[in-house]
Amino acid sequence: MEIDLSTDIDRISWQELARLFELAPLGKKREPEQLEIAFRNSMLKVFAFQGEKLIGAGRALSDGVWRAAIYDVAVFPEYQGRGIGSMIVRHLIDSAKVDVIMLYAAPGKSEFYERFGFRKMVTAMAIMPSEDEARKRGLIE
Ligand SMILES: CC(C)(COP(=O)(O)OP(=O)(O)OC[C@H]1O[C@@H](n2cnc3c(N)ncnc32)[C@H](O)[C@@H]1OP(=O)(O)O)[C@@H](O)C(=O)NCCC(=O)NCCS
Repeated sequence: MEIDLSTDIDRISWQELARLFELAPLGKKREPEQLEIAFRNSMLKVFAFQGEKLIGAGRALSDGVWRAAIYDVAVFPEYQGRGIGSMIVRHLIDSAKVDVIMLYAAPGKSEFYERFGFRKMVTAMAIMPSEDEARKRGLIE
């Protein structure tokens, strides 16, 4: 069956989206209620479906003029490696229509993003909830 992308947030089961991030896997356990807030507050969001089945997602914060930041790109493991993650990232890049798009790649995922033109930044900085843990995960120096 064909894969299609949708921006219709009303199609989303937030429990199923939480399951996506748990199984992908991506980050810590997400509560469905928090995911709903985060996705609704993100100017750009996109979901991949096979029929009515959610198989992937991604979102971006954007000011609509200059800057955007991509977060939470994930595809269910059984659907990974079929070009769906690329469809999601391409959609977010194309619809952002801003000068600069940032993201932080999960460790091991930089090469995936380099394919779209993302390059490692020299001066990117972040406040992390736990510095030690972020350092252990290879996110900060
Ligand atoms: C990262 C992720 C979204 C990629 O989605 P996907 O649907 O598997 O990716 P695609 O099938 O579109 O991959 C496109 C290409 O990138 C390559 N690629 C995918 N993940 C890669 C990685 N970690 N390192 C290097 N190349 C990678 C694929 O091999 C493929 O190459 P090909 O075109 O030569 O066949 C998916 O693996 C995932 O959900 N991972 C867990 C969550 C996660 O880490 N998300 C990223 C957060 S920053």
